[in-house]
Amino acid sequence: MDFAPCLIDGCLHTASDGAPLEVKNPATNEVIGVMPMCSAADAASAADAAVRAFASWKRTTAAERARLLRTVAARLRTARDLFAKTITLECGKPILEARGEVEYSASFFDAAASAGEMLEGSTIASRIADRRVFAVREPLGATMAITPWNFPLAMIARKTGPALAAGCTQVVKPSEETPLSASLLAQAMLECGIPAGVFNCVTGDAATIVGALLKHEGMRKLSFTGSTEVGRLLARQASDRLVKCALELGGNAPFIVFADADLARAAEQLIAAKFRFMGQTCISANRVYVERGVLAQFTALLETRMDALTIGDPLLESTRIGPLINDAAVAKVQRHVDDAIKHGAKLRRGGSVARLAGMSRRFFEPTLLEGGSSSMACACEETFGPVLTLHAFDSEQEVITSANAVSVGLAAYVMTQDSDRLWRVVEQLDAGVIGANDGAPSAAEAPFGGFKESGYGKEGGRMGVEEYTRVKYISMRVRG
Ligand code: SIN
Repeated sequence: MDFAPCLIDGCLHTASDGAPLEVKNPATNEVIGVMPMCSAADAASAADAAVRAFASWKRTTAAERARLLRTVAARLRTARDLFAKTITLECGKPILEARGEVEYSASFFDAAASAGEMLEGSTIASRIADRRVFAVREPLGATMAITPWNFPLAMIARKTGPALAAGCTQVVKPSEETPLSASLLAQAMLECGIPAGVFNCVTGDAATIVGALLKHEGMRKLSFTGSTEVGRLLARQASDRLVKCALELGGNAPFIVFADADLARAAEQLIAAKFRFMGQTCISANRVYVERGVLAQFTALLETRMDALTIGDPLLESTRIGPLINDAAVAKVQRHVDDAIKHGAKLRRGGSVARLAGMSRRFFEPTLLEGGSSSMACACEETFGPVLTLHAFDSEQEVITSANAVSVGLAAYVMTQDSDRLWRVVEQLDAGVIGANDGAPSAAEAPFGGFKESGYGKEGGRMGVEEYTRVKYISMRVRG
C-alpha cells in the first residue's frame, strides 16, 4: 500500500504520530492508500511555515505568482488521468465527471492568476484641497482552508488559487475521506516551483488540526466548504481570535419549471443539476417545482432521461451513477425516501440500494418521487443523493414563496422562456447562485457563495481573490 505524503514547509512528510489514516474506495471498501495522521504540532509547524513564507511571497509580483499558478494549471491538465483516477477511487465520482473536475480545478488556478494580475485599488476624491486619498489592497497573510470530500481537488483549487494569487500563503486540511488528491496536488505544487511554506497540506483528524490552526496567532483567514452545522462551529471557534471566515455551507436548491419553459431542455438541465456526482454537491437541485399543467409531460421527459443513467463501477466510461461516499450517506438518502413515502409522496422509480456484483452496498438507484408535503425531510433538508421529488405549483408568487421557505440559500434554478418572468423571479429568489435555464451554473470566474445559512464570502473570479486581501487607505498631504 502506498503511503502518500503531506507537505509542510516544502518537505514531503509520510511520518505519522498515531495510526495512519486509511483511505477506502467507497465502491469496493478496499483500502487504496494511507496518509499521515498529523498531530497538532504538525499543524502548528505548517502554520509557522505559512507565516514565514508570507514575508517573501507577498513581495513577489502578481505576474510572477500568476506564472506559477498557470504552471500548476498546466500540470493538472498534463496529469489529468492520474488525478481523475485518484478522485474516482477515493470518492466514487464517475470517471467522466472526475476528468471534468480536473479541468474545473485547473480553471480555478488560471482564473485566479488572471484576477490576481487585475487587482486594483482606488483614488478617492478628497474634500480638502491639499490632500490625496488612496485605497490599496494588500494580501491578508497566512490562511487556512478546510475542504470537503465531494470535490477533492476542485475545492482546494477554488481556495488556494485565489489565496496564492493575492499574495497569501495557505495551509490546507483536506477531508479525511479524500486526502489522496490533495497529496498529489501538494507534490505537483512543489514540482511546479511554488516556494516552501506557501502551500502546505496536513491530513488527519479535523478537530486536532483545525483546533491547532485556529489557535495559531499568524492565521488570518479560514475558508471552509461543508455543512452548515460544522460551519457554525468553526465560525464560533474563529471568533476567539476574530479570524476572517468564508463559509460555503449547505444548500437545498429549488428547481422551478414554468409551463412556458422548453421542457425537453429543462429536463436535461435538471438531470445535470440533480445527478451530477449522484446529487452530492451543495448546489444540487433538491426541490423540484413544476407548473401543474405540464407536470405529466415534464415527468415523462425526465423519466426517459433517468433511464439512460447507468449505475456501475465509477471507473467505467459508461457509468453515470457510482457509489455514495459512505454508509451514513446511504442511510440518510434511504431515510429521506421512506419519509417522503410516509408523507404521501408517490414513488415513481428507484427508492433503494442497487445490488451490483463485486461492489459495495452504497449504490443508490436514481429515484423519482412525486407529491408529498413541504414538511417531509427531503423538502426541508439537503438530501445529498440521487433523489428527485416533484411538486406541482399553480402560480408564480406561490412558487417563489415555496422556493424561499427554507433557512438556506445557496443555489436556485428557474426554467422559462419568458424573459420578463425570468428577471422577476430571479430578483426575488433568496440564493447566491442562480441557474437561469442553466442546470450547471458553476464557473471558476464567477463569485460563488450563498445567502442566509448557506454562509458568507465569495469564491472564484475577481471577488474570490479580493476576499484574500485587506484594504488600507492612505491620506497624503501635498504641498501646493
Ligand atoms: C459544492 O458542491 O460545494 C461545489 C459545487 C460546484 O462548485 O459546482
